[in-house]
Order: sequence, then C-alpha cells, then structure tokens
Amino acid sequence: MSEREVVIVSAVRTPFSKFGGALKDFRSIDLGALVMRECLSRVTVAPAEVQEVNYGLSVILEAGLETDVPGRQATLFAGFPPENISLTVNRACCSSLSALRLGYRAIRAGEIDVALAVGSDNMGRAPLLAPNIRWGSRLGHVVLKDPLFELGYPDFAPLARDAGEVAMEYGVTREEQDAWALRSHRCYFRALQQGKFQVGEELLAVAVPQKKGGPLSFDRDESPREEVSLEQLAKLPTIYGSPTVTAGNAPGLSTGATAVLLMSADQAREKGLHPLATILASVATATDARYIASIPAPTITKALEKANRTLSEMDLLEINEAFAAMPLVSAKILAEGDAGRRQSLLEKTNVNGGAIAIGHPVGASALRIAMTLMYELRRRGGGSGVAAICGGLAQGEGLVLQVK
Ligand SMILES: CC(C)(COP(=O)(O)OP(=O)(O)OC[C@H]1O[C@@H](n2cnc3c(N)ncnc32)[C@H](O)[C@@H]1OP(=O)(O)O)[C@@H](O)C(=O)NCCC(=O)NCCS
Repeated sequence: MSEREVVIVSAVRTPFSKFGGALKDFRSIDLGALVMRECLSRVTVAPAEVQEVNYGLSVILEAGLETDVPGRQATLFAGFPPENISLTVNRACCSSLSALRLGYRAIRAGEIDVALAVGSDNMGRAPLLAPNIRWGSRLGHVVLKDPLFELGYPDFAPLARDAGEVAMEYGVTREEQDAWALRSHRCYFRALQQGKFQVGEELLAVAVPQKKGGPLSFDRDESPREEVSLEQLAKLPTIYGSPTVTAGNAPGLSTGATAVLLMSADQAREKGLHPLATILASVATATDARYIASIPAPTITKALEKANRTLSEMDLLEINEAFAAMPLVSAKILAEGDAGRRQSLLEKTNVNGGAIAIGHPVGASALRIAMTLMYELRRRGGGSGVAAICGGLAQGEGLVLQVK
C-alpha cells in the first residue's frame, strides 16, 4: 500500500452562536450544507470532484428531527450529485476530526484523492423527549426528558463531575480553572483586535432571517465575554455535582458548523491549489470513561509518535476546552512533573482563546481547533502544531499539522 502526503486546501466554519442565540432556529444539516458549499467554492472545487464526504455530529436527536442520514441529507442540500458517497460519523466531541481521519486514511492509502470532512451541531435545537407516549400512558405522570440536562451518559457520572474530580486528582484547583477561563476570553479578544477570526479566512458570514427587514449578517462568535473577572468567576456555583466546573469555566451549549477539504498533495499540485497545511498524523484514542479530562495528553503523545515528531518541536498546541480542566490536566501530564515545562506548554496552548470563549458546538468543534491552529501557524509564517480533543466517555482525537 502506498502512503501519500495529504494536505488541507480549504477550511471554514460558521461563527458559533450561543444557547438560544442567533443560529438557534437553523437545522444542523442546513449549517452543514452551508459550510460545505463555502469550503468548495473558495477553491473552485465542484461537489462532483469530492470522492468522500465524512460528516461528524454529536447531537443525534437534533439531526433526528429531520433525518436518520444527516450526512447524506446535507450533501444533497449542498448540491452534491446523487452519486456522492457520504458517511455520518458520531464520536461525540471528536466527531469532526474522526471525519477528517477517515478521509485522510483513504487518501493516504491511495484509494481516493479528494475528501471533505464536516462537523455540525445545533445543541439548543435538541428536542425534549416524551419516550413513553407512543404506546400510551395508562396511569401516572407523563415525563419529558431533556437530553441536554447534565450532559452525561446512563450509568456514568455527568461529564462535569468526572472532569472536576479528575482535575482535583491531578491537583488542578478551581482557581486555576477560573483563571484559565479568564485567559480564554482575553486571548480571544486580543486575537480579534489583531484582526483574527475574519470572514473570508476561518469564518463565513451566515444570513439570519429576521422577523422584519432583511437578514442579519452573523459574522462573529457570540459567546466570548469582554467583561470577565476572577471575582465574578469565583462566585459562580458548580454544576452537576462537580467540585470545580461552573458555567464560567465550561463552554456553553453552542451551535455551529465546520468543514475542511483534504487532497492528496499530487492532486492539489495538479489543480494548482496551494496547500494550507500538511497533515502529519491523525489518530484516535480512548481510555477509562472517567478520565475525559486527561485523554488529550495520551492523544497528543500518540499523534506525535505517529508523526515522528516531539512535543518540543511543536510551535503551538490546541487542546479543546471541553472544560478548563482539559488543557490544565493534559499539560500537567505532558510535562511529566516539570512545572516550568508545563508553563511553557500552556503558553503555547489555545493562544487565541478556546471553547470556553468561542463556544463548543460539540460535533463541529474538533475541526474548529484544527483550523484555528492552522490559520495561526500560517499567520506566523509556518511551523508545526498539534491539536487534541476529548469526547464522550473518554475518547480522543488528535492531529499534527505542518505549515510550510
Ligand atoms: C454550564 C451550563 C449548564 C450553563 O447553562 P446556562 O445556565 O444556560 O448558561 P448561562 O450562560 O446562562 O450561565 C449561567 C450563569 O452563569 C453566568 N456566567 C457564565 N459565564 C460567566 C462568566 N465568564 N463570568 C460571569 N458570569 C458568568 C451567567 O451570566 C449566568 O448568570 P445568571 O444566571 O445570573 O444570568 C451549560 O452551558 C452547559 O451545560 N455547559 C457545558 C457544556 C458541555 O458540557 N459541553 C461538553 C463538554 S464535553
């Protein structure tokens, strides 16, 4: 089997909206179709040229309001020909990088030359469930279930509790998590002032229909807070029985979509497309379900081994802020007890803010951290970076990129 170089030639996302925010009425499949069209049109690649679409999502109940095959549905909305091969992938918050990994593998193996990875979720559109209604309720209360409540899984603790407890195990305090949350918002606004997160680069603008007048152009992430202080953060109550996690050091329940177009380096050259980045490795991991806060660390280690690179060779890291606990715990593990090394790793991590500020539409976020990393490496004139994300019941997904 030949192993070929795989490059990213286009990458874009919607701005992320907050719970009940600007994108609250959009179906996730329509947002998916929107980013797919934009991602291809930026490099004038026709849908018919894309040999595989892998479509990540996490909130299956929201997509399930319309369809059992969201990937297929979204590609048809986006104008792909009926012959297009699509696959819906759900690995919780890892999903969209899992989608990328499938295309990466197929290109590397020489089976195809062009693959599109997508992620899309509208968390606030997840319906309340009435599971006992179909066959009737002879006697007693009828109960509605909220699939968003406590964000967890049957027979396991809520994610926020696991993450907080594991953070404490690693000696990462509530104060440290609040300080990281503050940093996330501050880094985001500094990046914005420096002209980052622009429409035409990482972002596209979404036209949001209004009750009166023309559509609103939604062109900026909605969750970042300009006025944040440690005092305010310290006052927030913890959630879901967690010892440390609060609404302040967690991301919100967001809406958004992401897309990345991959090609074999040969194909990009033939088409005269300039690669935005080369993918050096794309890996998946999983561990004991309780350790969702620490899984980015072994994911980064595995990705670097696969890429034949070391951590010290990385110019930048992205570790998804599923909660502030994730980058803080993971950097501690990666630094192997060396406080100075941990500090220097954290300084290179999420330099433009993370999910706490930007938002976390779960199925879309993994590609968001990949493209935020890539665009920052490009602004710096090149370099290497590693991105890692955790997902439901301690799964991980990681990516090593090089920008030449
Ligand atoms: C934490 C969570 C339950 C909060 O939901 P919510 O109540 O709708 O969120 P809000 O934005 O209204 O925040 C709650 C309160 O905290 C306050 N708050 C949030 N962030 C703050 C900050 N940085 N500074 C000060 N106050 C803040 C809000 O102002 C609000 O206060 P209010 O009730 O007085 O208005 C929800 O966002 C959540 O579940 N997040 C986690 C998502 C998740 O687990 N993702 C997957 C990870 S794997």
